[in-house]
Amino acid sequence: MKRPLAERDITTAKHPPRVISFSSGKGGVGKTNIVVNLAIAMADLGQRVMVLDADLGLANIDVILGLTPKYTIDNVFSGYVTLKDVLIEGPSGILILPAGSGVTELLNLGEGEKLFLLDEIEGLGNDIDIMLIDNAAGISENVMYFNLAAQQRVVVATPEPTSITDAYALIKVMVNKYKVNTFSLLINMARDESDALKVFRQLTLVTDRFLGTPAIDYLGFIPRDDTVSNAICLQKAALNAYPDSIASKAFMKLAENLLISRREGWSDGNIKFFWRHLLRV
Ligand SMILES: Nc1ncnc2c1ncn2[C@@H]1O[C@H](COP(=O)(O)OP(=O)(O)OP(=O)(O)O)[C@@H](O)[C@H]1O
Ligand SMILES: [Mg+2]
Repeated sequence: MKRPLAERDITTAKHPPRVISFSSGKGGVGKTNIVVNLAIAMADLGQRVMVLDADLGLANIDVILGLTPKYTIDNVFSGYVTLKDVLIEGPSGILILPAGSGVTELLNLGEGEKLFLLDEIEGLGNDIDIMLIDNAAGISENVMYFNLAAQQRVVVATPEPTSITDAYALIKVMVNKYKVNTFSLLINMARDESDALKVFRQLTLVTDRFLGTPAIDYLGFIPRDDTVSNAICLQKAALNAYPDSIASKAFMKLAENLLISRREGWSDGNIKFFWRHLLRV
């Protein structure tokens, strides 16, 4: 589903590289599927996209796309391969740093290893326009650090009440403990826009009341659509397996909106800045 973007002026707009982190509080709300489909949609819109799989769970990105990782970050430290070799190429040329390669252990590396890794990342940074991070569910320290280092934090929630309360819990910790105040809310598995807006209002009602400060913007919604789960059985992204489905159209629209929007207050950091921040070196 390649579409030229010239008329929307995205590729020529010279946006800084962007690091967008996806997290949720509650598990199973669709983060991994959203990240995979968005990454492909953005790549089809002319962006060079890297996906950081920061969830060492069962539904790893390489698994749902039927890809096989060859190397790990440990192999990079032993000088065996470069970081580029650890990345696996997915549909539309998206690059994936698989969770099994050691992403979740990055924060526990020694100083020397972190500096070594940064050197490797430097060689990669200029080749990437956008990095998307698929986080584990919950409010672990790892999730917090990835969110903290990212330039934009997307919180994914569904209309289920437990998902809304868990999204609130995540935002609360980020605000109170990590002093992060900007979030984008993406509603997945909504019936329609009004269903999604209802979730947005419910959540902002409590954040306004109890947390006061955070600015939460409404990023949009992805409808509940069986093609998303059907695609997994084919080990394909919904966007490729069912390009005309309502979910695929929503993924494309979301990708366009994310690429076009440039909210005030976004730091013009680059990929290296993100890694420095994340690894604290
Ligand atoms: N828009 C949608 N419509 C229908 N089903 C969906 C949609 N989005 C995700 N799903 C289904 O929901 C399930 C969970 O999705 P996914 O694994 O992406 O969630 P997750 O948030 O990454 O979970 P975890 O927290 O365990 O990492 C999958 O079976 C997926 O097919
Ligand atoms: Mg997941």
